[in-house]
Amino acid sequence: MKKPFIVGNWKMNLTLKQGVEFAGLLKNSLYGKREIICGICPPFVFLKEICKILEDCNVCVAAQNIHSERNGAYTGEISALMVKEVGCTHVLIGHSERRHIFHETDSFINAKIKMALSVTLKPIFCIGETLEERESGRTKEVIQNQLKGGLHDIRADRLKELVIAYEPVWAIGTGKTALPGQANEVHAFIRNTVADAYGKDFATSLYIQYGGSVKPENAKELMAQPEIDGLLVGGASITFESFLKIIEAVSKD
Ligand code: PGA
Repeated sequence: MKKPFIVGNWKMNLTLKQGVEFAGLLKNSLYGKREIICGICPPFVFLKEICKILEDCNVCVAAQNIHSERNGAYTGEISALMVKEVGCTHVLIGHSERRHIFHETDSFINAKIKMALSVTLKPIFCIGETLEERESGRTKEVIQNQLKGGLHDIRADRLKELVIAYEPVWAIGTGKTALPGQANEVHAFIRNTVADAYGKDFATSLYIQYGGSVKPENAKELMAQPEIDGLLVGGASITFESFLKIIEAVSKD
């Protein structure tokens, strides 16, 4: 049995003071809790301070993004090595807001995943269909293309630490959660697609998180689905109280 992997994505929210307070509370609450793996994704400028608070404890810190190049003339961008250097272990790649607001393509996402792996940052690779794609019956095709594009030319032995987050775009920040069964079905499809490319053992051990309007009220039911190994939480991870409620809902039998 895998331990549930619950990650909070703060997006562009909170002040540094609030973030620091949150990290301290989370550290204390998770002290000695071994049945769950937890992580948070603070904005870039909070990372150093928050990684310091959470070092030597069981909460991972992920950056929300990186650039695909190692270094160079990319004004305003942040490299994989930079976030690694301040203590991040993970990085979100291909979040739907990056894909849709900032027009990130599958090939750019693929280059970022390769860059993350080259500095041993663990990618949380986000995929998911839009409402229009779902309604026109193209969910599987879209998921397959995103997987193929994002993981292009990367060997299985380099992907041991990969996490995939299935986040239907129509469920992100909308209050509309995918029905647990609906999410489970896509997770099973993702796992099968990955198994075809990388083998069954790889696919079985792969973590696949669900994201999209996860709340304390639906976390347990989502996690009860056999193909859901974790949750990527946006809005409900911004206050410590609701994030803790999700963690508690998931850790209880
Ligand atoms: P949400 O966001 O929980 O607010 O829907 C999820 C995400 O964007 O990762």
